[in-house]
Amino acid sequence: MLENLRSTLRFQPITLDPTERRLERAANIDDLRAIAKKRLPGGVFDYIDGGADDEVTLGTNTDRFGRWEFRPRVLRDVEHIDTSTTLLGREIAMPLVMAPTGFSRIATSGGELDTSRAAARAGIPYSLSSMGTRSVEEVAAVCDGPKWFQVYVWRDRGIVKDVVQRAQAAGYEAITVTVDLQTLGRRERDVRRGFTLPPKLGLGTIIDGLIHPGWTLDFIRSEPILFANLTGSDQGDGTDAVALADYIRDQLDPTLDWDDVEWFRDIWNGPIVVKGIQTVEDAKIAADLGLDAIAISNHGGRQLDHAPASVELIAPIRDAIGDASQLICDGGIRRGTHIAKAMALGADACMAGRAYLYGLGAGGEVGVDKALGFLRDELVRAMTLLGVKSIDELTPDLLRDLQMGSGLT
Ligand code: GLV
Repeated sequence: MLENLRSTLRFQPITLDPTERRLERAANIDDLRAIAKKRLPGGVFDYIDGGADDEVTLGTNTDRFGRWEFRPRVLRDVEHIDTSTTLLGREIAMPLVMAPTGFSRIATSGGELDTSRAAARAGIPYSLSSMGTRSVEEVAAVCDGPKWFQVYVWRDRGIVKDVVQRAQAAGYEAITVTVDLQTLGRRERDVRRGFTLPPKLGLGTIIDGLIHPGWTLDFIRSEPILFANLTGSDQGDGTDAVALADYIRDQLDPTLDWDDVEWFRDIWNGPIVVKGIQTVEDAKIAADLGLDAIAISNHGGRQLDHAPASVELIAPIRDAIGDASQLICDGGIRRGTHIAKAMALGADACMAGRAYLYGLGAGGEVGVDKALGFLRDELVRAMTLLGVKSIDELTPDLLRDLQMGSGLT
């Protein structure tokens, strides 16, 4: 009897590492979000998680993937699945780019070093933000994978030119020019919390800090958070805490137009991605200018609320521009099935920001590995169950558009 019991009961080994223990029960990106929500102070979590106004676009970016249902094919020998693809002329391990996200060091002190190392391990491009809290050189020193630099066009073009050329010298392969930040969208969660960057230590933050001791110890022990690519410039380097809306109003140039995008060809020798395209008309202009890639993006629902969900623009833009530019779908990616659908609709890759930041907030660099692992494994599983072995086999016939009411076939 005891023998029987012993052979049927097997005790699970106890995980001693606190980060691994925290992450071991997470089954998907949403679970990482829930862990990050517990671990990060409310203001920091809301800055990462929140969107503009009523957060309608924040929701539709993900929800509208539900407009398509799969048409899985069976009996197709799917033993070997290859998720690799070519983006901007370079082979990458899966069609995913880590989106530029500002101030990653507010989630963990490693910040952009943690996230860029994880990208290199996963074999996918890492985009460092102009508002990153590690410099182009610091990231280049730890990340030997493909690196892109995201550009905000500051009023002082000298600073823009300087940092872009530093990125070129440090081996970055592409620049991403973000064009949807003419003014800052109103993230009402940040307004309510009086959130500043870097976070200010007011009474509220101190109380929040006591409730989140892991984050607080890490924050207090690490060197001050600065806008690392603006240090030494007169644009404000983060030495003083700023409200993001004031900062953007003072520093970013709202006169930006298509000529400015063309100007980058004079100062940057390599592919240019324009990020923030939200209509077929603008995609056509970008393609006519010969820009290498178009990131269909509404800034993760953080800018104009009620902007279209990125996924719904893929097919119309692909139809309008043909193969003139590569297409990246940015916004709402939480699942490998989302990546599979975007590719089937005509994208060349997806971009995700929050998905990996939830991992960063939940468990630092290991958490980012976990997030990227979920997306990769889910993509492999989706491809296997769809009956496709390679990314270019993800084609529109694998999808049924529920909105068009097309009949089941
Ligand atoms: C900055 O670009 C932000 O979205 O907060």
